[in-house]
Amino acid sequence: MQTIRGFRDILPETIRLWQKVEKEATQLFEAFGFSEIRIPILEKTELFARSIGEATDIVEKEMYTFEDRKGDKLTLRPEATASIVRSYVQHKMYASDPVRKFFMTGPMFRRERPQKGRYRQFYQIDAEVFGIDSPYIDSQLIFILHELFMRLGLTGLFAHINSLGCPGCRPAYQKALLEFLESKKETLCENCLRRMDKNPLRILDCKVIECKGALVDAPSTLDHLCPACTDHFETVKRTLENQGVDFIVDKTLVRGLDYYTRTAWEIQTTTLGAQSAVAGGGRYDKLVAELGGPPTPAIGFAIGFDRLVEVLEQIEAPLEKPLDLFIVSLGETAVEKAYLWSCELNRNNVRTELDFRGKSMKALMKRADKLKARYVLISGENELAQNTVLLRNMATTEQVSLKLDHLVLDLIRIIKK
Ligand code: HAM
Repeated sequence: MQTIRGFRDILPETIRLWQKVEKEATQLFEAFGFSEIRIPILEKTELFARSIGEATDIVEKEMYTFEDRKGDKLTLRPEATASIVRSYVQHKMYASDPVRKFFMTGPMFRRERPQKGRYRQFYQIDAEVFGIDSPYIDSQLIFILHELFMRLGLTGLFAHINSLGCPGCRPAYQKALLEFLESKKETLCENCLRRMDKNPLRILDCKVIECKGALVDAPSTLDHLCPACTDHFETVKRTLENQGVDFIVDKTLVRGLDYYTRTAWEIQTTTLGAQSAVAGGGRYDKLVAELGGPPTPAIGFAIGFDRLVEVLEQIEAPLEKPLDLFIVSLGETAVEKAYLWSCELNRNNVRTELDFRGKSMKALMKRADKLKARYVLISGENELAQNTVLLRNMATTEQVSLKLDHLVLDLIRIIKK
């Protein structure tokens, strides 16, 4: 039996990098006032269709959607934002305090064509902020991403930022864009032509080479922003500059989801081939109201956890946690004693292993080497007869004889020193 295409196991060899990222991210989010939220993996299909947008790749062709036994249409979450907004509205969180900051980590599902950095089950670290329309929050979220990547030792990542305008200035832009697209109709692919009525902005994100070529001179949202959107974007840029966060204003950045307004961004790397976006986010000031809540500004981002780990793997060997102690115990009495000592040591956070397979001294020493034990405790019939054991420091090969009375306490003292 094999995993399904696009789904994979994350094996213990790489899990330490995942844990390291998660630990750093959690610490950072907590310092910035975020609380963890956990949301279901399965939601009503309608939630994603309405928030991500009917005419997006995700909703049109990538969702894992099925009818359950009662005929309800359900979808494995392709992202977290829609569910977190649903939760904010469902629990009327806005009533007691509209300002909320959440983060979460978990699997998402999109039926895309799998390749390096692109999976059908992938993981995101997601953050969302509700109730603040100030541009400083936009800068702060980009700053948090920048800080996290610095803490992980990553360089060569760039924030591409753009402003997509608001419902006030979007229609004039859309008109200008449609006029331009009309003039390029001959060159555009079928998919783009179909999207001209439904969602012309999405055409700017088409990956077909001919379309990309035709769209080089397409009008940009930045030239059509209303004064309020312009001010907002200027403040975001200015504060990022003041904080030393490198960014590129990228007028071609439109993002693959429809809910965005104003600031949108991606963090891109040059080291992952085609799948260059390590994180993406933006403002979505209309979504809370669209999903039945009161008008509430909101903004967030998601990090592609799999991709971030792949970038880290390029600069960092998988982290190994060496074993503290291996017990070489020879003979039934010695094994039983070793078992009891090992459990006591484990309870006290000393990483201890022993082998129950009745192997020879030579084989056991080999195993201690393989497990990279810092210390080896040798307990044979002779040692036990003298009420002692031998402790060897594997780095210095120094050996000391220890008495069995208070052995566990002595070991903890020496090993944790
Ligand atoms: P997104 O750009 O669709 O945004 O996804 C965010 C990140 O998830 C991407 O930049 C990428 O690193 C990773 N990702 C997406 N698809 C895959 C895949 N098939 N395999 C591996 N990694 C993938 C969102 O999902 C928004 N919900 C972000 C957001 C939060 N906007 C506001 N709040």
